[in-house]
Amino acid sequence: MVATKIDGRAFAETVRQDVARHVAQLRSDHGVTPGLAVVLVGEDPASEVYVRNKGKQTRECGMASFEHKLDAATSEAELLGLIDRLNADPSVHGILVQLPLPLHIESNKILNAIDPAKDVDGFHISNVGLLGTGQKAMVPCTPLGCLMLLRHHHGKLDGLNAVVLGRSNIVGKPMAQLLLRDNCTVTIAHSHSRDLESIVRSADIVIVAVGRPEILTGDWIRPGATVIDVGINRIERDGKTKLVGDVHFDSAADMAGAITPVPGGVGPMTIACLLANTLTACCRAKG
Ligand code: GUN
Repeated sequence: MVATKIDGRAFAETVRQDVARHVAQLRSDHGVTPGLAVVLVGEDPASEVYVRNKGKQTRECGMASFEHKLDAATSEAELLGLIDRLNADPSVHGILVQLPLPLHIESNKILNAIDPAKDVDGFHISNVGLLGTGQKAMVPCTPLGCLMLLRHHHGKLDGLNAVVLGRSNIVGKPMAQLLLRDNCTVTIAHSHSRDLESIVRSADIVIVAVGRPEILTGDWIRPGATVIDVGINRIERDGKTKLVGDVHFDSAADMAGAITPVPGGVGPMTIACLLANTLTACCRAKG
């Protein structure tokens, strides 16, 4: 291994401490406690773990956590009713609806019903538009976490070639917008891209968010490049369940200059950025 391991766990801890300090100050100076409502519909085991961790970390940094666990058969109208109540509740500053939602619910309808000022996921169409036009927006947590790690490691990103593998609304597209805002030359590549290998090899920075275990190996990576692995995949290996990223860590670490591990890389940054976004939403609400 020649690459520096980018420690997302340690960096996320500093972000959470910063948030906790601001939360304590808001309470003592203004008597306000930021509140985050998390809505989970159904019983997807991975989503349940994420939601539990979000609630725990929200409380640990001094914010109020409101958890709404709804039956998988909840109707779209019932969910919209809950969103309306959370929008109107002054103790709720941030609202997150855990994805994926059951198939009978139209996700975009739900996401666009959230008050954009409380949209701490940054998925409401008006926040997507604000980010895309370089205006002040709520920024999706996972790409924001990746950007913070990149800035921390590189300093300025100006002029670097960044390749984003994956074009999801949650990670790929907002990631590309953020890198563009930091003056990178950005390529979004995906399963239909031609000559993916030479695209990846052109990158000073590669962000991989495709949801396929260990799909990117070291032989495609330009020596010294920075590799950010957004994937979290559960696989069976040697009779054991193991968490791996979208990047084959050992081969990539022999080629890259720096790389995020899985676990302990991007994952902890996502929740830390959610807490930071909730604090931001609370401060903006206060005026
Ligand atoms: N499911 C996977 N990632 C996310 C995320 O960042 N936000 C929400 N709401 N659901 C998710």
